[in-house]
Amino acid sequence: MNFKDIPKVELHTHLEGSAPPAFIAGLAREKNIDISGIFNADGSYAFRDFDHFLKVYEAACEPLQSPEDFRRLTMAVLEETAAHGVVYMETFVSPDFCGGGDVSAWRDYLAAMQDAADEAERTMGITLRGIVTGIRHFGPDQCKVAARCAAETKGDFITGFGMAGGEMAGRPGDYAYSFDMAREAGLQLTAHAGEWGGPSMVAETIRDLKVERIGHGIGAIDDANLMEEIADKGVVLEVCPGSNVVLKAVTSWGAHPIAKLRDAGVPVTVSTDDPPFFHTTMTAEYEMLAKTFGWGEDDFRALNETALNAAFCDEETRARVA
Ligand code: ADE
Ligand code: ZN
Repeated sequence: MNFKDIPKVELHTHLEGSAPPAFIAGLAREKNIDISGIFNADGSYAFRDFDHFLKVYEAACEPLQSPEDFRRLTMAVLEETAAHGVVYMETFVSPDFCGGGDVSAWRDYLAAMQDAADEAERTMGITLRGIVTGIRHFGPDQCKVAARCAAETKGDFITGFGMAGGEMAGRPGDYAYSFDMAREAGLQLTAHAGEWGGPSMVAETIRDLKVERIGHGIGAIDDANLMEEIADKGVVLEVCPGSNVVLKAVTSWGAHPIAKLRDAGVPVTVSTDDPPFFHTTMTAEYEMLAKTFGWGEDDFRALNETALNAAFCDEETRARVA
């Protein structure tokens, strides 16, 4: 099977986390910023574990300082993603890394990203939507600043609000104010949970943040009742197996719970998270799913159908992408 050419819908990527290391190293050189410590000798990103990954991620964001940097980044990411057959992609973007929460600056960054997205749609046939993201380990107050940016810029490009970062910082309910604000503004909602936390973190995220999707969610595997609740409610998991293996949220591809979750009726989708950090692509994810679990064409068709139905876009876009 030619995995690359299967038309794919990808719901869970981080824009800054999709930056090729050579792109970030080049920007750092242009601006005389020394972040050489975040790279291995071969130029790849160097990190030891999840906490260190978050630090390296933030350092990699340092050279991204202007709307023009984000325009170039968005174009580079869409070129790479489109080359792997992705026709629709959603990406997390953080006001914290784009003007520090100032709404007017944030608008300028977004305009630059949208500019690149429009060009990529015309020239490469890939559609991009943005999910504004609070960073959990920056705390509830900073998350509210991100939510305000999201509420002020909901539109054709920004369609969702989410939360990433260190999952063990506080409980989901501490961030409810932000999610309420985003929901009231008409944004669709997702949050990282169950990447590191267990079933209770996933259950509280669904209950307290009223999200329709969960980033990762693999911690649900330890609770059959919760899996049944997720299936009944139709909450969709944005599963990123390659990310989970590299960050050691699971011990191996064979130990990944995605097949068991799916077999329990949980709606699952597949994404790359931060592809250059995890040495992955959507093609590589599909290859490993085929090799590890024997998934074939029908399984991938079902994954993409689930993803498109759960996409944070309007019906016109959904129909055009299908
Ligand atoms: N930000 C970027 N990648 C992330 C991940 N895998 N988990 C939490 N926050 C992130
Ligand atoms: Zn993520």
